[in-house]
Amino acid sequence: VLLREELAGDEVLVVSNREPYIHAQTATGLQVNRPASGLVTAVEPVMRACSGTWIAHGSGSGDRAAVDRNDRVKVPPARPSYTLRRVWLTKEEEQGFYYGFANEGLWPLCHIAHVRPVFRSTDWEKYVEVNQRFADAVVQEARTDDPVVLVQDYHFALLPRMVREALPKATIITFWHIPWPNPESFGICPWREEIIEGLLGSTILGFHTSYHCKNFLETVDRYLEARIEHDTSTISYGGKLTQVESYPISIAWPDADQAQPDIVTCRQQVRQELALPENHLLGLGVDRLDYTKGIIERFQAVERMLEQYPNLVGKFSLLQIAAPSRSSLDEYQNFEARVRNLAQRINKRFGSGVYAPILLRVEHHNAEQVNRLYRAADVCVVTSLHDGMNLVAKEFIAARDDERGVLVLSQFTGAARELHEALIVNPYHIEQSADALYRALTMPEIEQRERMRSMRSLVKDFNVYRWAGRMLLDAARLRQRERIMTKIR
Ligand code: F6P
Repeated sequence: VLLREELAGDEVLVVSNREPYIHAQTATGLQVNRPASGLVTAVEPVMRACSGTWIAHGSGSGDRAAVDRNDRVKVPPARPSYTLRRVWLTKEEEQGFYYGFANEGLWPLCHIAHVRPVFRSTDWEKYVEVNQRFADAVVQEARTDDPVVLVQDYHFALLPRMVREALPKATIITFWHIPWPNPESFGICPWREEIIEGLLGSTILGFHTSYHCKNFLETVDRYLEARIEHDTSTISYGGKLTQVESYPISIAWPDADQAQPDIVTCRQQVRQELALPENHLLGLGVDRLDYTKGIIERFQAVERMLEQYPNLVGKFSLLQIAAPSRSSLDEYQNFEARVRNLAQRINKRFGSGVYAPILLRVEHHNAEQVNRLYRAADVCVVTSLHDGMNLVAKEFIAARDDERGVLVLSQFTGAARELHEALIVNPYHIEQSADALYRALTMPEIEQRERMRSMRSLVKDFNVYRWAGRMLLDAARLRQRERIMTKIR
């Protein structure tokens, strides 16, 4: 309701690469799946609340025979409240735009995870083309000349400017879901000026943390002739103002009347399914299988802990859910092989009989399955080498209404700037992570409660509606100011 008030009847259009619902044609008919995506987890409840149109890349575009062919569908399937408009990309477009420039170029460029970005002119050309195709889709879908357009993520750095040219009165809110690096790191991108200029088509440009905002302002300062007001965090470029602000993203807090599976039952069932004894200590990692997530370092920390505390051998396992992701890229295939090999080596070293310290599941799990795992775990381990926010940390906290369980959290996540009661680690420091893991597994119940209670109250208050609400409120203020200025002029 508050979001609708913020919007006061304004038209909302969201643009993202990933679609919130994937309609796959299977032997038994049309199947609707949810992708493993922090962006979708956050933006979907917001769209349910304010309706409008979500423009996204139709998954499986390259193989359209395998998917539902409709360009527009009403979603969510059970209670349709907004329109999903799909843009179909050719195999070449998907390769150059998504796999190439976005995920071999910008992704490693912005996440300092020591994977070298790859920049190919042919990928860049597709990136420009596809940004234009989505900008055209926004213009086609807009029913008014001043819609509120919510642009999501690094796939669309050029789109704000393109939309601004076609719809000068639009309010464009762009949210960059991944980190923004320092100017030196960003400066290696051959198209750095074009990317920054593209983003400066936005009315508001949001990042998760003030640190990323600062990096962006410094990058603009370094590479463009723009006026920067540091006090108000605004950039004036080409006669247009862009407000740069931090909006830490969050999750939808579960409704109080939403029945949760009983914690004791979750603990028992999950251990039974994994063929573990009833009182087995369980650590949990939930990630896309991505080299930024620190999965190798996490396994090494488990190994180190078992070396140091042999009494835990046979009594502790880490369940690692790893959703396959971007698997046609070499870097991701190599990473998967390294993860599998390391798990095997550690299991050989410390496992015996049916016991394995690392339970690696390279497969998709739906939200209900993951929620049960959160409720069954003793500790949730997030060891990203670099992460914009990391919503797994917040989902785990939201799932623990028993106020038990411990979060081990990398200091290089946006989440670490808010969740101070987690056990904060440098994931590169294997001994430190091993100690934190041990400390989590042996933490007295009272301390677990105190920490969890405090983190729960923060995540409950600063939920995803606040995230969207703050951006929309800021946008509403700017729109109002613009209207007054136009009247005066
Ligand atoms: O939040 C970062 C992000 O890259 C999103 O843009 C994306 O939806 C998610 O992670 C998952 O990645 P992908 O869409 O490439 O599967």
